[in-house]
Amino acid sequence: MKVTGLSVVVTGGANGIGRALARRFAREGARGVLIADRDEAGARVTAEEVGGIAVAADLGTEEGVRAAITAAEAAFGHVDLFCANAGIGLEGGAEVPDAEWQRIWNINVMSHVWAARALVPGMIARGSGAFLQTVSAAGLLMQIGSAPYSVTKHAALSFAEWLAVTYGDQGIQVFALCPQGVKTNMLFNAEFGNSAFLLETALDPDQVAEAVVQGFEAGNFLILPHPEVAEFFRRKAADYDRWLRGMRKLQDKIRVTAQGGH
Ligand SMILES: NC(=O)c1ccc[n+]([C@@H]2O[C@H](COP(=O)([O-])OP(=O)(O)OC[C@H]3O[C@@H](n4cnc5c(N)ncnc54)[C@H](O)[C@@H]3O)[C@@H](O)[C@H]2O)c1
Repeated sequence: MKVTGLSVVVTGGANGIGRALARRFAREGARGVLIADRDEAGARVTAEEVGGIAVAADLGTEEGVRAAITAAEAAFGHVDLFCANAGIGLEGGAEVPDAEWQRIWNINVMSHVWAARALVPGMIARGSGAFLQTVSAAGLLMQIGSAPYSVTKHAALSFAEWLAVTYGDQGIQVFALCPQGVKTNMLFNAEFGNSAFLLETALDPDQVAEAVVQGFEAGNFLILPHPEVAEFFRRKAADYDRWLRGMRKLQDKIRVTAQGGH
């Protein structure tokens, strides 16, 4: 797939990976780019830079997702490519209150479901359309220190797989973007727990956008800006218990480092 000539929505485009995607898609010659984010000022900055449209919306609600899609349809006629990129991290485990589990579930998973609900019928009628779901390597592996992030990213990947299988023969393409650390506010603010160790191999958002464009052109469902993630995923599938032992060791190392040891 090429982005040239496509109408695109990027959620979470006010910052980080979403802003880099919007910039890159504009450079590739997208017909139109709409940036939806709850950060209205940031969305406007991106929109001005790429000659696109900014929509302020809470994408953790179906109403917000629909508002973004309605605005894109009014401007471009229809949406060719929807990038469900907005997401949050949240530290902790079973003790995290239900309301917080619901909040991360809504933005990291349900926003993808609501977008598909609104867009799939039109895409089937036209015989074409695409979704890029920003998942995470945590969707294939896990996020040490954050059960809500691990669980919601697995769910997002599962929904992307389901869309690809169910509608792939009707012209709908689905891509799952699964990076490890990326140098954005999410990583710097350690939203999903102690993520300092991820900084060592963290990429710039522009490198992630480059991997996305290459993944589109290759037609790969799984887009891995950190190619080593494919090997980690293979090891997990080959010997689950060994992989769990390895992850416990990594967790210990992270704890010791966080406490000032080495
Ligand atoms: N940074 C990383 O290390 C990393 C790694 C793997 C995956 N990801 C994923 O990449 C995606 C983008 O994150 P980022 O790293 O660019 O972080 P970021 O914090 O820079 O950007 C996230 C954007 O999403 C927006 N957003 C969050 N919740 C929203 C809501 N309810 N309604 C509207 N907008 C909302 C924020 O305002 C922000 O502009 C996320 O889904 C994240 O889980 C990030």
